Amino acid sequence: MTSGGESLKQELEALQKEAKHAFTQALDLAALDQLRVKYLGKKGSLTEVLKGVGKLYPEERPVVGRNVNEVKDDLEGYLEICRNVLKDEQGLLRVEAERIDVTLPGRSQMPGVRHPVQAGLDEMSEIFMHMGFEVAEGPEIEDEFHNFDALNIPPEHPARAMHDTFFIEGGDDMLLRTHTSPVQIRAMLDGEPPLAIVAPGRVFRCDYDVTHSPMFHQVEVFKVGRGVSMAHLKGVLHHFLNAYFGRDLPIRLRPSYFPFTEPSAEVDMGCAICDGKGCRVCKGSGWVEVLGSGMIHPNVLKAVNIDSEVYSGFAFGLGVERLVMLKHGIPDLRLFFENDVRFLRRVGR
Ligand code: FA5
Ligand code: MG
Repeated sequence: MTSGGESLKQELEALQKEAKHAFTQALDLAALDQLRVKYLGKKGSLTEVLKGVGKLYPEERPVVGRNVNEVKDDLEGYLEICRNVLKDEQGLLRVEAERIDVTLPGRSQMPGVRHPVQAGLDEMSEIFMHMGFEVAEGPEIEDEFHNFDALNIPPEHPARAMHDTFFIEGGDDMLLRTHTSPVQIRAMLDGEPPLAIVAPGRVFRCDYDVTHSPMFHQVEVFKVGRGVSMAHLKGVLHHFLNAYFGRDLPIRLRPSYFPFTEPSAEVDMGCAICDGKGCRVCKGSGWVEVLGSGMIHPNVLKAVNIDSEVYSGFAFGLGVERLVMLKHGIPDLRLFFENDVRFLRRVGR
């Protein structure tokens, strides 16, 4: 064979090797098809080689031409094998990707629960609503008139000092309400007696320990009308506490002082956490203060233009967190605000 024929043969062998190697490297069918075009297509490498055959001596042409055809057949066969391998691989990959593990445990839905404090607020409001009280709300940012003055809290009263109250900077006399009692003022200014109101809401004070938090909740309950007395107060309280706890826990009324009630009483409940034996929550006393109460002071009625000669009223404001703690045996008030979902799920509803 002439050197021309020899070099063409070598070129052909190199091409065959290169093409096979390239085919095995193809990552998917599309890439493989591009290689087919590159090597075996009309303008591909093999066609180029074939063009060289025409320049050979006539007697060499059939030999080399046959070689070209053999290589072409070989490469086409190899291409088909590679194609099948890729098809299998992709099929397996798809099966793998779409595989369903029927032994996996089901993904359960995690429906939310109301925060324990919100659940408590709702539950308490509902008990009062059943007794005929109407729900009212007031703003959390209050002024000194509604939070203090109209409630007969004089300017020199310690509750007005900075260490108890969060004042709004640059807000003149604006503050975060320290209790829900200002709702009494708003409701009495808005409406005429007889009034029976339950006012749940958020309040704020500079306080922080196991039974005090800077933000907490109160439910204010009051009734104004003709002949309303301390006996009504006691009856409503007793019914409420029995309904809320679903059991008879001891209650005691301690004479106390609030500027906006006269007489005033603080109501303590037997500590449900230690059953009165003494613990961290009741500070060893066996009792927990849960609310302040009393007969609405004549000065308060005067501030809202209600004739105290004709009308009287009782009022109380209870600490929601305290009651929820006692009901569920929660030893630290701060658990409510740390937002550990394990706790929230167990106590919320
Ligand atoms: C008052 O806030 C009065 N406005 C209640 C009242 C209303 C009296 C109507 C008379 C007539 P006192 O400051 O005691 O009262 O708070 C009422 C209750 O809120 C307390 O018994 C306690 O249960 C709860 N409480 C008070 N401070 C905190 C605090 N920092 N964190 C959590 N609960 C608190
Ligand atoms: Mg108190």
